Amino acid sequence: MSIIEVKDLTVHYPIRGGFWNRVVDTVKAVDGVSFSIEPGETFGLVGESGSGKSTTGKSIVGLETATSGSILYNGVDVTKRSVRRRMQYNRDIQMIFQDSLSSLNPRKRIESIIAEPLRNFEQLSPEDEKLRVLQLLDIVGLGPDALYKYPYQFSGGQRQRIGVARAVATDPKLIIADEPVSALDLSVQAQVLNFMKKVQRDLGVSYLFISHDLGVVRHMCTRIAIMHRGRLVEIGTRDDIYNHPLHIYTQRLLAAIPETNVDHREEHRKHRLEIERQYEEEQSLYYDQDGGAFPLVAVSPTHSVALAPKTIAAEKAGR
Ligand SMILES: Nc1ncnc2c1ncn2[C@@H]1O[C@H](COP(=O)(O)OP(=O)(O)O)[C@@H](O)[C@H]1O
Ligand SMILES: [Mg+2]
Repeated sequence: MSIIEVKDLTVHYPIRGGFWNRVVDTVKAVDGVSFSIEPGETFGLVGESGSGKSTTGKSIVGLETATSGSILYNGVDVTKRSVRRRMQYNRDIQMIFQDSLSSLNPRKRIESIIAEPLRNFEQLSPEDEKLRVLQLLDIVGLGPDALYKYPYQFSGGQRQRIGVARAVATDPKLIIADEPVSALDLSVQAQVLNFMKKVQRDLGVSYLFISHDLGVVRHMCTRIAIMHRGRLVEIGTRDDIYNHPLHIYTQRLLAAIPETNVDHREEHRKHRLEIERQYEEEQSLYYDQDGGAFPLVAVSPTHSVALAPKTIAAEKAGR
């Protein structure tokens, strides 16, 4: 059974304006999104800034309220707050954020930052609590000298590891990692990703890994969903997405990954321009009149894509 199942989720934000502060419009931040995450898997949610990724992640942990649709945890509908409380949901689902400097309390020492979720959910003696915190620091490669320091005394990469330690303190089943390495240098990114993988191997946790960069999630994710303007445009295994991308928006994100091999740079540049041309000229194949993605249609048991109905028919005939 899937650990999390998101069914037709929508989150609309009202925009208020005018003298009476009435609702004048709504932002459809998430507009009918469905996917599921399996136990122990890393599921990627990728799209450019503003596509609704964070809103999706926050609705799953309960930081945003769904306008409609549902979220199932181990098959139980946890869209309602009262059900989440009863099921220890807030303990089992944790979130880590991009900006560790603002998500870690600057006035607290690392010891109490990591101990905080333990204090919320477990009654440990001070000695046991300290042991547990040391253990958690060790999991992310930090020594006992970290205990009495403040967040600003660490580098961005170390702070992100502290965020991981805090997130795993309550032995969660799913961690939602929202752009966890986007603020870090490339070399440090790899380090933090490796720690996240190690934590997954050690604890068997699932990740929802949110990123704007298909290059970053490549080695982390087993399955990936591509999000654009509040909707999913494609969903598939790593092989489906990287080797057989069907939606122009997915191809565009792939073309945006920098080419590191100098010999291939010119070729890569031409490919990128060609994709950009298609993206501009073939909108009607990929988006409806309002600029929204079409409903997803399965093209294989693992791979679904949001193409105009006529394109899908052609695609199937071509197989
Ligand atoms: N609290 C809010 N009120 C109004 N609009 C919001 C709010 N939060 C996000 N949005 C809008 O919803 C859309 C999706 O935002 P977000 O989920 O943060 O995207 P992403 O994480 O992919 O960058 C954006 O257009 C954003 O401006
Ligand atoms: Mg975001």
